[in-house]
Amino acid sequence: MSEEGGDVVRRERFSGGPARGFLSSMDADERLFAADLAVDRAHVVMLAEQGIIDDESASTILDALADVEQTGYDALDGEDIHAAIETAVIERTGKEGGRMHTARSRNDEVATCIRYRLREELLDAIEATLVLREALVEEASAHSETTMPGYTHRQPAQPITVGHFLSSYAQALGRDTERLRAAYDRTNRSPLGAAAFAGTPFDVDRERTAELLGFDAVLENSMDAVSTRDFLVEAASALATLSVTLSGLATDLVEFAADGYVEIDDDYASTSSIMPQKKNPDTLELVRASAGTASAGLNGLLTTLKGLPRAYNRDLQEATPHIWNAVDAVVPATEVAAGAVATASWNESELASAAGDGFATATGVADLLAMHGVPFRSAHEILAQAAEEGADYAAVRAAAEDVLDDALSAYVEREAVEAALDPAASVASRDSVGGPAPGAVAAVLDEMEDGIEDDREQLAERREALVAAERALEAEVGEFA
Ligand code: ARG
Repeated sequence: MSEEGGDVVRRERFSGGPARGFLSSMDADERLFAADLAVDRAHVVMLAEQGIIDDESASTILDALADVEQTGYDALDGEDIHAAIETAVIERTGKEGGRMHTARSRNDEVATCIRYRLREELLDAIEATLVLREALVEEASAHSETTMPGYTHRQPAQPITVGHFLSSYAQALGRDTERLRAAYDRTNRSPLGAAAFAGTPFDVDRERTAELLGFDAVLENSMDAVSTRDFLVEAASALATLSVTLSGLATDLVEFAADGYVEIDDDYASTSSIMPQKKNPDTLELVRASAGTASAGLNGLLTTLKGLPRAYNRDLQEATPHIWNAVDAVVPATEVAAGAVATASWNESELASAAGDGFATATGVADLLAMHGVPFRSAHEILAQAAEEGADYAAVRAAAEDVLDDALSAYVEREAVEAALDPAASVASRDSVGGPAPGAVAAVLDEMEDGIEDDREQLAERREALVAAERALEAEVGEFA
């Protein structure tokens, strides 16, 4: 049936020419092979149920689709996966297979296929964030008392704990999970039955195809249904935001490894081809670089979509690969980050001895003075002076006398000040909600564990719904065997 290099959609008139390769999305469409088969099956089942085609035609087409599945993507030829599969069906059935494309267009077909496939990718992305959150929470619990320097402007600022640091990323990733789930829920709506953009005179049951394909809802307006790729923007945006979270984590770990605060496991490190002593955190650098690919995908999508008129324009074909690029960069990066976090070993003694560097306890001492009646601004001045003059108890006492015209002991006992100069005690004192004190971190970690469990359940629900729909479709197809 198909001409050399042609397909049933293009026929002789459009069967080749110098732009054939340029027009084709066949390579990128490998990713839509299974999706297109499912969409074809659901559509054919619906057509038969509605009496638009008879059961015998449906059965012939469904058998051909099974055979097309069997011979695989590599056996196909056509301008895109949709035309190629239709061509392959008609090659097997003769003219009868031409009924498959009744009451639909490649426009609603492709939009449905992309959503169908992207759902899986988004669920895998969600899963990856959960695994990373679990690793962070577990390591954070193990290190709720491991003091370390905390930085602002990359300068030692206040002592914290490794637990506090790691849980900061776990919290951010919780929002990444939420964003991915929101993107999933808006992706999971069906454009099928919109036809080219202007509906169809056939009595199609759009709810039914949505149900057979596991979609939660129908995208009603037929022009919007085929035109919109906002779900791709939303998914790419969620992935890009996640990758920015990952890139920060990667940078912190790369720097802490350089400082000797953490050792990246050999499985997540690399070496130099010339410098034999080197152990480099290459995987984390690649994790960080995934943000470039994700942001390129988001930007590519926005730029491609901007200003497109209603309804279908072939520009949309170029939009799709951007999302796969983002998925392929960010999901493995998330998985690798989880492995690197879970296997890293924190150098507790190195961290403890660095925790007070740069007079990082100064703020805690100022807080202590303010708690004992010194106006905070005066306390700040005292500690600023003390920082210049030795950064110890004697320096604080001298500066206090200077600033307050009074003995420090009139406000607070020496032991209390000395305790506040100790990094671990400094950390323990900051027990406000979400603060670094071990008890405060533990409380947040408990909530995080519940949050992860909740998110796991929501993920499982969505996966189960897809599996159930797949089974239901299989059973319906089986009725025509
Ligand atoms: N390969 C095309 C895409 O990805 C399929 C839709 C083609 N539709 C059309 N009207 N030319 O968008």
